[in-house]
Amino acid sequence: MQASARKVCVVTGSSSGIGAATARLYASQGWNVAINYSRDPAPAEQVAQQCRDLGADVLVVKADVSSDADCRRFAADVQARWGRADVLVNNAGTTRFVPLKNLDGLQAEDFQQIYAVNVVGAYQMTRAFVPLLEQHPVTAVVNVSSIASFMGTGSSIAYMASKGALNAMTIGLARALGPKIRANGIAPGLVDSPWLRNGLGETTYAASVESYKQRAALADIIQPEDIAQAAWWLGVGAAKTTGEILLVDGGLRLTRA
Ligand SMILES: NC(=O)c1ccc[n+]([C@@H]2O[C@H](COP(=O)([O-])OP(=O)(O)OC[C@H]3O[C@@H](n4cnc5c(N)ncnc54)[C@H](OP(=O)(O)O)[C@@H]3O)[C@@H](O)[C@H]2O)c1
Repeated sequence: MQASARKVCVVTGSSSGIGAATARLYASQGWNVAINYSRDPAPAEQVAQQCRDLGADVLVVKADVSSDADCRRFAADVQARWGRADVLVNNAGTTRFVPLKNLDGLQAEDFQQIYAVNVVGAYQMTRAFVPLLEQHPVTAVVNVSSIASFMGTGSSIAYMASKGALNAMTIGLARALGPKIRANGIAPGLVDSPWLRNGLGETTYAASVESYKQRAALADIIQPEDIAQAAWWLGVGAAKTTGEILLVDGGLRLTRA
């Protein structure tokens, strides 16, 4: 088939938060976008309509990235619709909220479920999309990691370990996929999305936001659109950057002078 003239961005977990903002940004720049979710179609359809309103052709795909069959079907759907994929943003993530000191609160199954999405899911999506990505000269994979992997903070030890594994995998993928495909990661700080609101509850979330603002050099939390900008640069600009993990934390790691 004749490939679409418009470039295509595939964003996992794009019915909400960072993924939704990333899909909207690519749509606003004249790209077609594939929206993905695993459970609830309603928010995915909303994001899809926002992208259509920005002029994009949109494919909405229900796929659990922890399922290799789903990832391969997702790639086949994109191939059938547009015959191309230029940027893959592996953004879908999961966690369990378990206080760090509660070592008995995490079982092997928790690690396995979190790794299945955050690490294996990104791997399976990448593998499924490489045949499409390598058909074009300027293509990229962008993995959404977390500051948790650098700081040892976050929802649980299993989560931060999974994002550390994702960072290492990103470096390995950069070697494996070069010179045709670049692979980079983004490590966001605290992002204003449903993720932490739902996980912590509104009261603890509000306290976490205040504490973050007190400690970060830029005295603010991160918006999903800030991460979308990083996903745009690593996807489309950054021609000589691969195997890098870009921290977007408002200066939390620096702390305020
Ligand atoms: N929010 C933060 O403070 C923060 C900080 C650092 C890093 N991150 C990372 O940023 C990414 C996005 O987070 P967010 O804050 O935007 O979260 P969010 O608003 O809760 O969105 C999560 C998205 O992932 C989808 N999803 C979950 N499991 C999936 C699976 N197995 N397969 C496909 N899609 C799946 C969800 O849709 P369904 O529920 O329908 O599946 C939803 O679209 C995650 O990787 C997270 O670890 C977030």
